[in-house]
Amino acid sequence: MRTGLKDKHIVITGASGGIGFDVVSRFLEEGAKVTACYHSDPRGLKTLLDAFPGKLNNVSADVQDEFSVESLFIKANAAFGRVDVAVANAGIASHEGVAIHAMSIDRWHKTLAVNLTGVFLCAKHFIANLKMYPGDDASLVIVGSTSGEFGEAGYCDYSTSKAGLKGLLLTLKNEIVHLSVRGRVNLVNPGWTVTPMAEVALNDKAMVSKILQTIPLRKVAAPADIAHAILYLASDKLAGHVSGQTITVAGGMEGRVLFSTDEVMDDIRQ
Ligand SMILES: NC(=O)c1ccc[n+]([C@@H]2O[C@H](COP(=O)([O-])OP(=O)(O)OC[C@H]3O[C@@H](n4cnc5c(N)ncnc54)[C@H](OP(=O)(O)O)[C@@H]3O)[C@@H](O)[C@H]2O)c1
Repeated sequence: MRTGLKDKHIVITGASGGIGFDVVSRFLEEGAKVTACYHSDPRGLKTLLDAFPGKLNNVSADVQDEFSVESLFIKANAAFGRVDVAVANAGIASHEGVAIHAMSIDRWHKTLAVNLTGVFLCAKHFIANLKMYPGDDASLVIVGSTSGEFGEAGYCDYSTSKAGLKGLLLTLKNEIVHLSVRGRVNLVNPGWTVTPMAEVALNDKAMVSKILQTIPLRKVAAPADIAHAILYLASDKLAGHVSGQTITVAGGMEGRVLFSTDEVMDDIRQ
């Protein structure tokens, strides 16, 4: 089935990461023009420049910084004109679980700055851009996490940053239509996905065992699983009547295993 994304212009943040790179590749394969926002390392993206000549514009930006995000959209407009789709995908997660009583205020601020304020800034400048470049259709796809749905002990900074995206989703779906009459906003919540972000946890067999006990499909996602959901929501042709929705791509995940069997034995005996 055709996505109708040919010649559409997509801006995506976190483009050099595990999920982002897959999304960039798939949009390019669909014939879209992509402004790929990387943070520190454009090397992987450079390989796509030769494969898709004239279709890829790699731009560096820090999503925590408003000037940087505003410049990203100005550079995107200069390269390919109107931005039709924005994918707010950049995110960070600490590899170290820390309970709230021991969590530093610096970690809290940093995670919220990238994962929540970063999405706010990307959404703000995408929607502001629609004022300069009028058009009926527009799609904003936000990348959250199952952590925002189920919580995650040791990572309250991350789960809070991702849960906050729901507020943006439900509000912006009602705001975007004032600038773009068929404008849509949706959220994709990945579960565990094989990328550099999840590498440490997924290399730990005990951890993987705990993870798979919560997932009926008994596997973690590949970046392509998440990219397909993003492509669907980006496409006006496929998802033109879908707005304000959350698609969870997590193999049917039910929640978290909180304690091992040994840990609950005493409670069972009582
Ligand atoms: N992998 C999972 O299991 C999983 C599960 C649920 C949700 N997610 C979400 O999926 C999204 C993509 O993550 P991923 O798994 O692909 O992780 P990843 O491979 O670590 O990619 C994250 C990307 O975000 C970029 N980034 C970080 N800070 C940034 C900043 N201040 N400004 C601009 N870009 C910044 C990183 O660039 P640098 O490396 O150059 O800093 C990196 O390219 C994230 O929002 C993440 O929370 C992932």
